[in-house]
Amino acid sequence: MKIPILRILITLSLLCASLFTQEKKAGDEALGTKKYSDFETPQFCGTSCHIDFYRQWEQSMMSQAYTHHWDEIEYFKLAVPHAEKDPKVAGVKAGCNGCHSPIAFLAGDVPPPKPSENSRANESVSCDVCHTITGFKGDVPFNFNYISEPGKIKYGPREGLVSPAHETKKLDFLRSADFCGTCHNEKDPYDIWVKSTHLEWKEGPYSKEGVRCQDCHMTYAPGRNASMAKELPNVAQHLFHGAHDPGKVRGVVELRIHPDVREAEPGERVIFNVALFNQKTGHKFPTGSAEERMLWLHVEATDAKGTIHHLNVDKKGFPGEEYTIAANTLAYQDMGIALNKPDFPGIQRDGIPLGDRIYRLPYLDPQGRMTIQQWNTASQSTDYRIGPRETKMETFTWTLPSNLPPGTMKVKAVLNYQKLPTPVAEFLEVPMEEAEIIQVNFHETSITILP
Ligand code: HEC
Ligand code: HEC
Ligand code: HEC
Ligand code: HEC
Repeated sequence: MKIPILRILITLSLLCASLFTQEKKAGDEALGTKKYSDFETPQFCGTSCHIDFYRQWEQSMMSQAYTHHWDEIEYFKLAVPHAEKDPKVAGVKAGCNGCHSPIAFLAGDVPPPKPSENSRANESVSCDVCHTITGFKGDVPFNFNYISEPGKIKYGPREGLVSPAHETKKLDFLRSADFCGTCHNEKDPYDIWVKSTHLEWKEGPYSKEGVRCQDCHMTYAPGRNASMAKELPNVAQHLFHGAHDPGKVRGVVELRIHPDVREAEPGERVIFNVALFNQKTGHKFPTGSAEERMLWLHVEATDAKGTIHHLNVDKKGFPGEEYTIAANTLAYQDMGIALNKPDFPGIQRDGIPLGDRIYRLPYLDPQGRMTIQQWNTASQSTDYRIGPRETKMETFTWTLPSNLPPGTMKVKAVLNYQKLPTPVAEFLEVPMEEAEIIQVNFHETSITILP
């Protein structure tokens, strides 16, 4: 008699557990489980109470994740048509917005109206998206596996606050890096990590020291967290500044260049050494949309007569190194699928001076060609980005031209950064600000050329 009762109990508890987890859907399974009207608009939060945070958020990429020109072009011109043609990547038509417009995704609006139609999808990553996330499902935060529970309660970092507009509840999860990781780690349909900012952070030194994403991207300052609230010493600023803030990118890496000799004659061989120290990012640099980010080292010498000589980086001989030296190569052929150009030959891969060293993670399509379509990435080549607090060393060996004029020769190392390669921006007609070249840092040394 005892066994059936036990069985019934176990069955009942399993049923309860499944009901419970069913309620808390996350990731792909949460598609269409909510309505737009379940979420407050950012204007509701920002008009009379959280004016300051609203003005900060409005300037950040969080408020433009769905509407920003390049996001619109990549989603509507490449990802949606590709997803409609290739069953392997069909899921991204809905999935892109699990992170870029969570309320459109949760409302099951696939694809949402274009940004010009001014729908609620345009709210992108809004106040109420983040402040009603209660946790994540699974072991690793990735692919929008946050649990969204919109409603009267807004979760925040402090205990016992009273608001006229809603209830508040303290939630430690909001202060964790895992919270950010739900959107800042991504696996594509080929099971490749195509975005791993949180995982890079976790492996690196900052996580061990307890320095979280919020400490660098939501820095704390004295102020009020709402217009009617009292002054606090450490209010989390809603800056979310990153790759789109040149001030955040400048100075990320420190550069030093030195020669192996101070004096040389024309025809001699001189070696210039460059050290690059990543002092500022909590993850790799570049991170995130690494498929399209480029960081490159350009070294040139100016001789006593003012003639400029470009130096090529020395090869180290590691596998995949060909992707890390700027070359006159075609790539990104897989854009032809979405663009109805089956024989698309591709476009210039790098668009920067040939022979420069590029710090990047090459994404490869199923045919092994370099791609900027992260959802079509079947493998990756060697990761040659600069880790947090890592120092990379490069050498430039140069046999001095026989006609080099005597006198001081200056040699300058410049580290440049670009969010999107120029040839891609030109080809897809993305406004050129997305391909703006930002000088991260530079350093100069000199040697004397003897007569
Ligand atoms: C020690 C400070 C520091 C920490 C900790 C840190 N970051 Fe950053 N982050 C930076 C800096 C500096 C940049 C600008 C350079 C760049 O774009 O990589 C940056 C850039 C970014 C970017 C822009 C990447 C791109 O190319 O679009 C994202 C996204 C980002 N961080 C997210 C995070 C997340 C998520 C975490 C936690 C898992 C985190 N950061 C932890 C300093 C930090
Ligand atoms: C990407 C997610 C995200 C978005 C979008 C976001 N917040 Fe926050 N917010 C956070 C996190 C995380 C914290 C807590 C940070 C901490 O304390 O470490 C926070 C803290 C706050 C706090 C408490 C600040 C304090 O220090 O007491 C308020 C109030 C707040 N947010 C309101 C807003 C409003 C209003 C908006 C929209 C204009 C908004 N948030 C958008 C993630 C977000
Ligand atoms: C609901 C998903 C989501 C969550 C949660 C989230 N982000 Fe983001 N974040 C995004 C998206 C989408 C973008 C890309 C915007 C765009 O299209 O460029 C972004 C962009 C960023 C950027 C880059 C800005 C730039 O200038 O390029 C930073 C920095 C950032 N997030 C930090 C954070 C931090 C810190 C947290 C945790 C407190 C966090 N994010 C949580 C979705 C999210
Ligand atoms: C797991 C969350 C997630 C998913 C899914 C996702 N993205 Fe993103 N996306 C981000 C975050 C976070 C950033 C910004 C920060 C960075 O570069 O890491 C970003 C950046 C971008 C950018 C670059 C923005 C810029 O201005 O540089 C584009 C374009 C983009 N995503 C398009 C897409 C498309 C198209 C899809 C679907 C195929 C997609 N994303 C799927 C989270 C996601």
